[in-house]
Amino acid sequence: MVAGTAILSAMAKGWFITFEGGEGTGKSTQLRLLNDWLRALGHRTVHSREPGGTPVAEAVRAILLDPALEPDGLSEIFLLEAARHDHVERVVRPAMAAGAVVLCDRFTDSSLVYQGLVRGLGWDEVETLNHLATGGLAPDLTIVLDMDPEVALARAHTRNSEGTARENRLDDEPAEFHRRVREGFLELAEREPDRVRVIAADGPPEKVFARIHPVLPEALR
Ligand code: TYD
Repeated sequence: MVAGTAILSAMAKGWFITFEGGEGTGKSTQLRLLNDWLRALGHRTVHSREPGGTPVAEAVRAILLDPALEPDGLSEIFLLEAARHDHVERVVRPAMAAGAVVLCDRFTDSSLVYQGLVRGLGWDEVETLNHLATGGLAPDLTIVLDMDPEVALARAHTRNSEGTARENRLDDEPAEFHRRVREGFLELAEREPDRVRVIAADGPPEKVFARIHPVLPEALR
């Protein structure tokens, strides 16, 4: 029964797909659409986010997004990596081992771009911390939603003022910050073209989703 065991373990490998991009690029909406679409095809999914996804990590998220608290750069990355380790060990790895498709709103690439590049902690330094926190687990596919940050931010601010999203410390950063975030994600895609795919995020949600669909692994379509 060795062959049967091999087939079973291949089936239980699971998938890990992350969404990245600047504020207001529509990650949450696209994640919801992908989640529904995969479930309709019969896939088991786990929909999560970073920072967050476990009680410990959600508590850390509340600290990180609180405009009244201003941890310095190093404190911030350690908080993020602490939350990440808990999330990976308690949610991502178990779900993948059970054969689920894990969909995550932001992951290690956000730390590379926001903390490593834009906040200046250094790409290699953050890569090392990411590796420690995840034990080397990397997404199978990362979708970067890309659009002009001015348009994206206008969208995020409307959303916040309508009370549908919590205040976010980073929404208040100057335009230059958001431009560098965008460039950081585009640089990431250049460094890892096989894993990281850039999708134009302008237009209605269904149109954007139609662009995501073709880059999904064939096994999931
Ligand atoms: P969130 O409200 O989820 O923003 P968005 O809707 O844009 O995803 O807040 C998450 C914030 O945390 C976001 O501004 C990016 C930031 N962040 C980092 O700076 N580094 C990280 O590693 C992660 C995961 C998030």
